[in-house]
Amino acid sequence: MKRKKVPTAAQILVERFRAFEQKLYADQLHDDRSMMKSGDRRFWHFRPSHHVASGLLTQEDVMCLSPSGKRLLSVGASPAFLEKLLPEIGVPAENIVLADKDPIRIENAGPLKVVTFDMNDPWPEMGTFDRIIFPESLCIAIGDRLKERGTAAPSSDAHPNDPLEAELLTSIMREALRRLRPGGIIRANGPMSHPKVVQKMEEALSRDGIRCDVQYKRYLMDIRIS
Ligand SMILES: C[S@@+](CC[C@H](N)C(=O)[O-])C[C@H]1O[C@@H](n2cnc3c(N)ncnc32)[C@H](O)[C@@H]1O
Repeated sequence: MKRKKVPTAAQILVERFRAFEQKLYADQLHDDRSMMKSGDRRFWHFRPSHHVASGLLTQEDVMCLSPSGKRLLSVGASPAFLEKLLPEIGVPAENIVLADKDPIRIENAGPLKVVTFDMNDPWPEMGTFDRIIFPESLCIAIGDRLKERGTAAPSSDAHPNDPLEAELLTSIMREALRRLRPGGIIRANGPMSHPKVVQKMEEALSRDGIRCDVQYKRYLMDIRIS
């Protein structure tokens, strides 16, 4: 007889998010189980459950962020389908800060706080956070800046933009790490920079005296101060 598999805590959390997606956004869900109907060719919008399934947010994060005074910063959050669902799961709205470079796309944030800035530029003062997440936004921000400043010309170097990409990634993570509370975690999902670029970021941060523990996968990065 086949034994029934017991779902993991991660699978249970994904199912909880799926249930709330149906409740809150029933008419906005795309047939693709990862996507929302809104969004366009430039910016796709993702289902909250996609973010949980990819490891951006865990049950441990939800427990960490639930008590009063705990703080989550989501950078590149617009239109905040994930973040607007979090109060249903137990993270109070007042613990959540949304950031995006585009103020218009984020205006339906309800009771959640909103800050507008470009993550590639110096970040404004907004206190410190227990978790900082980049939901499918880090690669977009870096890619856009590379298009503006990188070299498009063919080069003998196969990856001519790697140094600039490492500089951009380091600058974003420096800003995030500066705002991370002790024991805090930074996570980004979506396509990540090449491991060599991530390695260069670690070296640059180390030269600044910041030693971090970086867990890298192709579609997920997890950074903590070691
Ligand atoms: C692919 S969309 C993902 C949106 C949402 N987080 C989701 O998962 O559905 C990328 C988001 O990153 C934001 N973004 C892009 N470049 C940015 C930058 N330089 N600084 C801050 N936000 C940026 C966009 O405005 C957009 O909201």
